[in-house]
Formats: sequence, structure tokens, C-alpha cells
Amino acid sequence: MIEVVQTVSKMHQVADRLRMAGQRIGLVPTMGYLHEGHLSLISRAIQLSDRVVVSIFVNPIQFGPNDDLSAYPRDLDRDLALIEEFGAHLAYVPDAEQMYPAGYATHVDVEGLTDHLCGLSRPGHFKGVTTVVAKLFAAVKPHVAVFGQKDAQQVLVIQRMVRDLNLDVDVVASPTIREPDGLAKSSRNVYLTPEEREQAPVLYRALERGKQLIEEGHRSAHHVVREMRAIITRAPHATIEYLEAVDMEGLAPRPHLSGRILLAGAVLFGKARLIDNISVDVP
Ligand code: PAJ
Repeated sequence: MIEVVQTVSKMHQVADRLRMAGQRIGLVPTMGYLHEGHLSLISRAIQLSDRVVVSIFVNPIQFGPNDDLSAYPRDLDRDLALIEEFGAHLAYVPDAEQMYPAGYATHVDVEGLTDHLCGLSRPGHFKGVTTVVAKLFAAVKPHVAVFGQKDAQQVLVIQRMVRDLNLDVDVVASPTIREPDGLAKSSRNVYLTPEEREQAPVLYRALERGKQLIEEGHRSAHHVVREMRAIITRAPHATIEYLEAVDMEGLAPRPHLSGRILLAGAVLFGKARLIDNISVDVP
């Protein structure tokens, strides 16, 4: 059976033992309810390290008051079985009391990058993410941590935190895993009704159309985003939260598209908030 560590002090001991033995520690942070996207990160981490720790923690401080914290899907037994099956070595599963005991007062806040995209619609979300990831890095002491490109802004924000705080962790981004119809795998896809599920691939289709327009030579962000919007608004259950073409470094909107561009969107389908993105290099 896979080793399950539930406390910070035990995690420190295990991490120290591994480091003393010269083992390279890989970390895959998750909120559980694992799917093929998470499992692809585990496979990547196995390639990059000797011992892979998968953390499972539904981090309350990255959810807003109207978000789905209490409804967030959970299935720890299944997650542990999958982690073992995919060849990770250890599960770090702290509870909220371990992570945020009474009197907890410290947060990590990355400025600038968090003013765009999901940062605008979910105030405080990234502060919760960077705080918990900094704490996971402190507990697990990984040499390398693997994150999904599906949350492109999250990857950039964490890379910025690592640089700014001089953390000695290599942050690696791994490609988005999709359903055959293009819908990005997500723990939140379970919220979709059959009709919503049928319409949900419009987000990826719109992003692909944006990429195609740019590749055909279009350089006006306004035009590209308008065409992408038109695809999504044709789906009756979809409500666009944001849909943008931004520069990959600063995530600021770009009226004229040049350099590395991120096409990113968040779309609400009933109770599900779906996000997705693709990047395009403009020659
Ligand atoms: P969670 O949504 O569980 O995602 C955990 C990791 O899986 C993230 O790095 C995410 O980008 C990646 N992931 C999700 N769907 C993916 C897909 N379809 N393809 C590839 N990777 C995918 O992201 C979080 O949790 C939290 O914010 C966390 C980083 C754990 C901090 O609480």
C-alpha cells in the first residue's frame, strides 16, 4: 500500500530522509478527485525524479464565498488507489487544521500577473494558491514540482513566486489532457448536465479557431476574440466569464497580436466553471 503522510512534521522527516539518501523528490500538488490530467502529471514527475509525492488538499483559502468549496468532489480511497497504480510513492494528505491552525496569519501574494484573467473574476484566488503551494513546497521539499498547462496562469504565478522568493524548486508545466471531443479534463466536469456536457467543447473549439485565425495572418485581438466569442455564444448553456488574447509573459491584453500569445477563456455552464487556454507563437 502507498505511504500516506498526514502531518507536516512527518512530511519533513520523510523529505529529509529522502534528501539524505540523495533521492530527487518530485511533487504533484492536487485537490484530489484525480483524472487523466492529474495522472499525466504523475507520469511526468516520475520521469523527472526518484520519489514522487502527490499532495491532496482541497485548499479552502483559494475558494471565494460563492465558489464550490463544500460541493467540491472528493474520493480519497479512489485517489490513493490511482496514485499507487500510476507509480507515485507517497501521498501527502494534510487536513485544514494541519495547514491552517488557529492563529494562522501568513500569505504569499504575487502582484501584477494576478490582476488578469482568473485573478479578475476570482479575487483572492491566487493568493490562496500561492500560499498553499509555498506551504507544500516547505513541507515536501521537492526538487521539482509538476503543474498542468490547463491552468496556464497558475503556472506563471507559481514560477514568479519561486523566482521572487528564491525557492529552490524547478517548476515544470505539463500539457493539457482532453476528452476525445476536445473538452479539457477537469474535476469540475462532473457538475455538467448531459446537455451542458454536449456543449462544453465549444470553449476549446473557440480557442482553436482563434489560433487558426492568427495562423492565417489576423493580428487584431479584437477581431480574433470576437470570432471566438461568436462560437461560444451559439451554445445556449454557455455564459462567458472572460475570453481574451493576452501576452504570455505579463498576461496583459494585446490589441495587436505579436510574440507569444495566450488565448484563454473561462465559461460557465450551469454549476460548472470551465477554464481552458492554448498558446500561439505569432511570427
Ligand atoms: P487541481 O485543480 O486538482 O489540479 C491539480 C493539477 O492538475 C494542476 O497543476 C492542474 O493544472 C492540473 N490539471 C488539471 N486538469 C488538467 C488537465 N486536463 N490536463 C493536465 N493537467 C491538468 O490546481 C489545483 O488543483 C490547485 O490550485 C493546487 C495547485 C493543487 C493548489 O491548491
